[in-house]
Amino acid sequence: MTTPGLNLTSDYYTGAHPSLLWEMTICQSLGDGSGTFAKALEKPEAYGTLVAEYLQRSASLPRNCGEIVEIGGGYGTLMAALLEDLKPQQVTMVDISPTLLQKQQERLTRHPITFQCEDLFSWLPTLKRPIDLLILNEIIGDFPTITGLSRACLQTLLQKPQSKPKTRRLPSNLSRQELLSEATRLIATYNLNLDNLPETFNLNYGALLFIERLAKTKVSRTFITEHGCDTILPYPFSLYAAIQPEAVDLNPRRIQLKDHDEYNIRFDHLEQIAKALSFKVKRFHLMDLLKVRFDDEINYLLTSQRPLNEEQEIFLEFYEHVAEYQGILLER
Ligand SMILES: C[S@@+](CC[C@H](N)C(=O)[O-])C[C@H]1O[C@@H](n2cnc3c(N)ncnc32)[C@H](O)[C@@H]1O
Repeated sequence: MTTPGLNLTSDYYTGAHPSLLWEMTICQSLGDGSGTFAKALEKPEAYGTLVAEYLQRSASLPRNCGEIVEIGGGYGTLMAALLEDLKPQQVTMVDISPTLLQKQQERLTRHPITFQCEDLFSWLPTLKRPIDLLILNEIIGDFPTITGLSRACLQTLLQKPQSKPKTRRLPSNLSRQELLSEATRLIATYNLNLDNLPETFNLNYGALLFIERLAKTKVSRTFITEHGCDTILPYPFSLYAAIQPEAVDLNPRRIQLKDHDEYNIRFDHLEQIAKALSFKVKRFHLMDLLKVRFDDEINYLLTSQRPLNEEQEIFLEFYEHVAEYQGILLER
């Protein structure tokens, strides 16, 4: 029998030199919308502008709304563009990394913003005020992932009465035995589908726990994006073998990055928990949110997989990368 492990990224982000330059987040790739990556979009724009448009369209988020909070805002790039478009009355940035929070502070000087250096899992239970919008962009893959869970072992545990949730305990402080009982509790409570998983699999524990704890707050809308392990490309991109997401096998996959690993996300599990906790749920593919270009040039590129110049090489890389990303919008 394998013992479960726990993948953590907190040491990396709280360390001296966390950097996002190695992992090409979509937000950083698009920058202010003037570079080559943005030319792959129907309307080249900064990522935050496109997110603001999506939220106004799909979540009826008004301009001049009350408070927006972003967790794990990296270099502050998303928020810089979003603020121009939405002009909220209050903004809070929460990040576990003092270094990245400092960069956000340097970037976001034009608006009054509160910056809080804290782990989401210790901050969320203290949140008592109403929030109009909570943003988690490319961060939930960094949350603790339980690795090496055995189906056979879980089947036995699932027959027994379930323990209570470990309220307020940080996932990183749980023992192996407690991790196993937390995994069992989540699977049993929300009837999470484990069909077609290999004998040993991984569980996005932190991401699932976040949804459970979110239900206890007064947040009206939550916008989440991340690499998915159950991502299905929208039409017409679904037709091109060149950009099909890697191994859609429903088992969160390790993504090796500089000095840390993250795991991609099983979004159907997030959806199951959110629905059980009475959230209205909308799932989307990032290709649709971004309105990625599809025309003769792109058709040729994706079919031939032979870029004719440097710009097309960058486009191909971008399409392959975006293909795995999806999002989920939770409303109450
Ligand atoms: C992959 S980066 C994404 C940055 C940015 N959202 C983007 O899309 O470019 C992850 C961010 O989440 C922060 N982070 C990771 N785990 C966190 C946690 N438990 N609580 C708060 N922030 C966290 C990191 O410091 C970093 O700013």
